[in-house]
Amino acid sequence: MSSARTLIRGGLVITAADEIHADVLTEDGRIAALAAHGSAAAESWTADRVIDATGRYVIPGGVDAHTHMELPFGGTSASDTFETGTRAAAWGGTTTIVDFAVQSVGHSLRAGLDAWYAKADGVCAVDYGFHMILSDVDERSLKEMDRLVEEGVTSFKLFMAYPGVFYSDDGRILRAMQRSARNGGLIMMHAENGIAIDVLVEQALAEGRTDPRYHGEVRKVVLEAEATHRAIQLARVAGAPLYVVHVSADEAVAEITAARDKGLNVFGETCPQYLFLSTDQLAEPDFEGAKYVCSTPLRPKEHQAALWRGLRTNDLQVVSTDHCPFCFTGQKELGRGDFSKIPNGLPGVENRMDLLHQAVLDGHLTRRRWIEIACATPARMFGLYPRKGTIAPGADADIVIYDPHAEQTLSVTTHHMNVDYNAYEGRRITGQVETVLSRGEVVIDQRTYTGRAGHGRYIPRGTCQYLV
Ligand code: URP
Ligand code: ZN
Ligand code: ZN
Ligand code: ZN
Repeated sequence: MSSARTLIRGGLVITAADEIHADVLTEDGRIAALAAHGSAAAESWTADRVIDATGRYVIPGGVDAHTHMELPFGGTSASDTFETGTRAAAWGGTTTIVDFAVQSVGHSLRAGLDAWYAKADGVCAVDYGFHMILSDVDERSLKEMDRLVEEGVTSFKLFMAYPGVFYSDDGRILRAMQRSARNGGLIMMHAENGIAIDVLVEQALAEGRTDPRYHGEVRKVVLEAEATHRAIQLARVAGAPLYVVHVSADEAVAEITAARDKGLNVFGETCPQYLFLSTDQLAEPDFEGAKYVCSTPLRPKEHQAALWRGLRTNDLQVVSTDHCPFCFTGQKELGRGDFSKIPNGLPGVENRMDLLHQAVLDGHLTRRRWIEIACATPARMFGLYPRKGTIAPGADADIVIYDPHAEQTLSVTTHHMNVDYNAYEGRRITGQVETVLSRGEVVIDQRTYTGRAGHGRYIPRGTCQYLV
């Protein structure tokens, strides 16, 4: 904890609710006070350190509610460790991640969660929490869910895809939802009909359609929409809230919208890759398309309009990255000649805040909505608010000084993620993170890393604060 007082002076403070020219005082790792810039109160403050934020935005640190550091997948592991991935997050203005601990088939939730606590312990640059992936829903796991909710692991991801790995059938899904309806947990759903997809995968490979682009073709839009619809109906039966992860298709957005129009507690997350990339990237020649293999898959460009509209109308509430990087060399290459062996996932934890700022400039979002979908709502959705996700007295001093006029080009040559390509290579962005505070400590100082492995703390979470 930092006992030092830091004064951030002269910036435009942007939260989900307000934009105000205010000075911000931090003390002991928390936000002590805000006051109008130039006011008698602000002018009376003394501090050990003054940061001049004139011409800059002062925004809450980003909350990325969907990352997979070191995830074992397809015979390899995601290339960012908790150490490298959280450092990259800091560079990109994200000061909290919620990662996924994994239950292995035949093992307890406890064993999986303890393994993930150990991976992250003492190495993170920024704060972190955990969701739990349920791979084996049985009586024991259901009981364990109650204990995890009490312990601060309050959300559980289930998969309708990946038969034989993470897949749960409808009966198991319903049981987990019934349990979460009682214990306050939030079910997060990977909504794709994996049983049907596997048939199409087998047929594609048998016909010699082995290139990365076929990954997108077999994982059909209707199979995402159908699974989204089914997940919503199962949640209705259970009386449980539902959060659909990595929504990529217009017809899936329509299912979520219809559910919300009924007044149901159904929420949707999308990711930068679905907003900024498309099947054009997946079709890149010479196996380059493998860099863009993730599930749900990238869709034709025409789907992006529905995602942006959903973010504007609050039918989609959160943009997380689903950061799950695999190097092209040696990892994505495992699927040469068989797209089904390409490890699924894209890097992005460092790029999310910038890409969404560009979306503000492009007219897709307002500045406050940018902060809402990237900071405030993920914090509320996953029981971290108001400690995370806003700038208010008492909140953790997780603050980003953002230069809205700086020009940058996203590139593997300048990023800090441990992966040998950038999914947004060459993209011009206006806006850049300049300085980052995590619980009052400066971890990025004028674009120099000043943080350390082990500064980041585990944050036990409360239950969802976004229910209607
Ligand atoms: O392709 C993806 N999204 N990989 C990570 C695992 C998941 O399903 O979120
Ligand atoms: Zn002043
Ligand atoms: Zn998923
Ligand atoms: Zn994921």
